[in-house]
Amino acid sequence: MTSTISKQRRVLVTAALPYSNGCPHVGHIAGAYLPADIYVRYLRLAGVDARFVCGSDDHGVAIILSAQKEGRTPADTAQHYSQRQLKAFEGLGIHFDVYGSTSRTPQHASTSQKFFLKLYEQGYFEKRTAKQFFDDSKNMFLPDRFVKGTCAFCKTPEQNGDQCENCGKMLDVDTLIDARSVMSGTPASVKESSHWFLDLSRFEKEVSTWLESATVREQTKNYVRGLLSTGLVKRSMTRDLTWGIPVPLPDADAKGKVLYVWFDAPIGYISNTMELCARLDGDEARFADWWKSDDTEIYHFIGEDNTIFHCVIWIAMLSAERSYKLPRGVIVNQFLNIQFPGKEVEKISKSRNTAVWIEDYVASGSNPDVLRYYLTAIAPERARTVYKPEDMIQRNNSELANVLGNFVHRITSFTLKYCGPHVPAFPEAKVTDVDRNFAKAIQTTHARLTQCLEQFEFKSGLETLMELARAANKYADEKAPWVTRKSDMETTAVTLAYGLHAIKYFAIAFAPYMPFSAAKIQEMLGLSKEECGWAQATDPLAAGRLIKEPQILFTKIEAEKDALPSVA
Ligand code: 2FM
Ligand code: ZN
Repeated sequence: MTSTISKQRRVLVTAALPYSNGCPHVGHIAGAYLPADIYVRYLRLAGVDARFVCGSDDHGVAIILSAQKEGRTPADTAQHYSQRQLKAFEGLGIHFDVYGSTSRTPQHASTSQKFFLKLYEQGYFEKRTAKQFFDDSKNMFLPDRFVKGTCAFCKTPEQNGDQCENCGKMLDVDTLIDARSVMSGTPASVKESSHWFLDLSRFEKEVSTWLESATVREQTKNYVRGLLSTGLVKRSMTRDLTWGIPVPLPDADAKGKVLYVWFDAPIGYISNTMELCARLDGDEARFADWWKSDDTEIYHFIGEDNTIFHCVIWIAMLSAERSYKLPRGVIVNQFLNIQFPGKEVEKISKSRNTAVWIEDYVASGSNPDVLRYYLTAIAPERARTVYKPEDMIQRNNSELANVLGNFVHRITSFTLKYCGPHVPAFPEAKVTDVDRNFAKAIQTTHARLTQCLEQFEFKSGLETLMELARAANKYADEKAPWVTRKSDMETTAVTLAYGLHAIKYFAIAFAPYMPFSAAKIQEMLGLSKEECGWAQATDPLAAGRLIKEPQILFTKIEAEKDALPSVA
């Protein structure tokens, strides 16, 4: 007898490390964290060895500015927000295996410095004295977000010193016009300072080769192709700041300088994996299984504003460093806008008070699955989409409560009432084409859903599932067990058994999307963890299996009375 041992697929999933000067809102969740969580949950059900890495991005000017405003040290600010971020994510069921911190994860500074030195030793850095914005009144250099001005390319005002929010072009002292200091409001002057530049144009071929074979969405591919076609430039990888990772060079000019936040941030994916391996495997060195092995697939989930950093600079950095694997894919979602009743579509913004905060949603006792469902249903996978609070309520009522919840509830309660607490047995002769077609629809849905999830098409996957839920209600209406029970209990048993089969399928198939509700259905059917694998999802339930009283999965919300959907 021969046996083949197939290797378990290994996937490392990362979600963008949020700056630790704020908390996540619905736009962040729809952009990176929810799709990544759905993907990881799916992979695990499919038996893949998956690890999910995230953490806070603590360095950079944004954190310094917030700390100053809040009268704290940057370290305290970072820790404060990092903890709140994690709690908010957990409240929505977004569960990372590690939530590190670029200022506190023990491995991070040394891993970043080693990375920098490796590039330095290979001669990839060019030390250049460059012009930089300077605040004369505060006597300090003004990198990136300390300075605001107008983009010279598209003329959008109020842009940060590093990148135009509107056209995506990188900005510098020559291309940010009418610049002024965010610190004092005074016009920014320009002074010289020495920095270490990475010439990204040396990696155009690597970036281009990676791009053509990587898993990225069409719009991401076109955007990066566009960047490549206009040519990559030299970017400074160091900054004049006191908060950050010291530049590890024995050079007098390196004194008082730190690594550029976008240099150390993505390395956070690696150092957080080290921390995870130290905890889970008892050996930090096992991070190499995830970062240095041909057998591991790495996927980064990010929002559109992070594209250039992950698909160009990070790829160039990794290509230069050489010992780590390049990501297999970068999954980019576009921005989510927001529209409040009677108002125009707006950008989600903290300062304009247009954000819906996850902390608030969770604290209100609202059902996390409703938000997960809605944000996936409107996921900005191909283009920007709009979050409308009343649309979420409407979908909760007409889709979750009326379609999915209603089907699960009526089939289980009807079974309990007329057949007792077991999956009913039935004679095969009573099975009709209507039943067989319904069972077939479960199989077809599963194949289609699997394909969607494998291709990062989370929204289509959810639509496919909801189509089946609608078909399930139609099946119940057509078979009308409440009518047949009076004259034909055998046919009634067929309908209920097939209905329960669909419910069991929903208990597994919806789990990546709505883990709390799926767990409730699993509990109702007494499904063990082993029975909830992706490969077993379409298996029918054995006759005689005990079922429990149905729980309410989704409650209807009255738009006027309740602002947010409540937990059943
Ligand atoms: O946009 C942001 O919030 C960044 N802090 C994302 C960093 S992703 C990674 F590179 F760390
Ligand atoms: Zn612009």
